[in-house]
Amino acid sequence: MSTIYHFKTMPISSPKSYPKRIAIVGDLGLTYNTTSTINHLTGNNPDLVLLVGDVTYANLYLTNGTGSDCYSCSFPDTPIHETYQPRWDYWGRYMQPLVSKIPIMVLEGNHEIEEQAENQTFAAYRSRFAFPSKESGSSSQLYYSFNAGGIHFIMLGGYVAYNKSDDQYKWLEKDLANVDRTVTPWLVATWHPPWYSTYTAHYREAECMKVAMEELLYEYGVDLVFNGHVHAYERSNRVYNYTLDPCGLVHITVGDGGNREKMAIEHADEPGKCPEPSSTPDKFMGGFCAYNFTSGPAAGNFCWDQQPEYSAYRESSFGHGILEVKNETHALWTWHRNQDMYNKAGDIIYVVRQPEKCPIKPKKQMMGDKAKRD
Ligand SMILES: [Fe+2]
Repeated sequence: MSTIYHFKTMPISSPKSYPKRIAIVGDLGLTYNTTSTINHLTGNNPDLVLLVGDVTYANLYLTNGTGSDCYSCSFPDTPIHETYQPRWDYWGRYMQPLVSKIPIMVLEGNHEIEEQAENQTFAAYRSRFAFPSKESGSSSQLYYSFNAGGIHFIMLGGYVAYNKSDDQYKWLEKDLANVDRTVTPWLVATWHPPWYSTYTAHYREAECMKVAMEELLYEYGVDLVFNGHVHAYERSNRVYNYTLDPCGLVHITVGDGGNREKMAIEHADEPGKCPEPSSTPDKFMGGFCAYNFTSGPAAGNFCWDQQPEYSAYRESSFGHGILEVKNETHALWTWHRNQDMYNKAGDIIYVVRQPEKCPIKPKKQMMGDKAKRD
C-alpha cells in the first residue's frame, strides 16, 4: 500500500565493519528544535539511529488541539488522561525520510507509558516499532538486545520491574553471560532515566534501578551507557557507585533532542538548587531509594556542593551525539549542538577499552571457576 523502502543494516561484527557511525538521540518530540536536531543528525550520515526514549510526547497534547504542560497529566490519579494519538502519526511522517533509509532502534521513556483503562501501558509504542525481543531471549518488548558493528546493545526498561527477582533482571543476567566479546568487543547499555545526571531535573530519580542493576553491569564490563530524560547534555568520567573507577562505566545523557518541555539548566550542586529527596520517585520509578550519601565528598547530604568529580562535562544545549567505533579498543564520541555548524562538535572524547586491566567476567562466576579448579 505504500512505496517500497529499503535500508542496509550494519554487519554484526567484522574488522571491516569499523568504523560505522551510530547517531544517539533522546527526548525528541516534534518541535522547531526537534527539526534542527534531526537536520544536524542527518548531516552526520549515521548508519544506525538509537533513540533512547521519549518519542512523540503525544501524552502532552490534548484532543481539543491544545497542549498540556502538566508533566503528570498522563499519570493515574490526575483528572486528565488524554494522549493525542495523531501526534504519533505526525512524528512518523516527519521521521520517514530519515528512518526509511537508515535503521532506527528505540527504547521506551516515560512519555510512552500512556496508561489506559485496566492498566494497559505502552500500547502505541509497542504497536509502532519492531523489537527483537524473541531473538534476544526476552519475554518483553520493553527490554531486549541486539548486535551491530562490533557492539552488543542492551536496551533496558526504566519503567518495568528490574529487581533481582524480576524477569528483566534475570534476562539481563543471561544476556550478559551470553555476550561473546570476540564477536562484539563493545558493550553498550541504554535506558531512559539517567543514574549519573547532576541536573536538578529528575535528580537521582532512577536510584532504585541503579541500586538493583549497577553492580551487574559493572561486573560484566559494560563500556558505555546512554540515557535521555534530562533535557540537556552530560558526560561522566568512568564511575561506579558514585566513585571514580578506572573500570567503571561512562554514562552519557543525551535527553537534548528538543521536545516541547523545558531544557534542564539548573544543577543540583548549585546553592539552593538541590531538590527535596521526596520529590524524586513516582509510580513507575519502582519506589524510593535516593537517600543521603554515606561516604565521599557529599557524605551526609543529598547533593554535592560543587560539580561532582564523576561529571566530566555538562551543557544545556539541544543536540545529538555520534558514536564511532574505530576498532576493538577505541571509540570516538562526539556531541553536536544544534546552534553550531554541521561539522562542529561541542564535546569530543575517545573512549578506550582496557580489557586486560578490567576483567570482564563477573566476580561470582570467577569465584565459581576458581572453585572448580580447586
Ligand atoms: Fe523522559
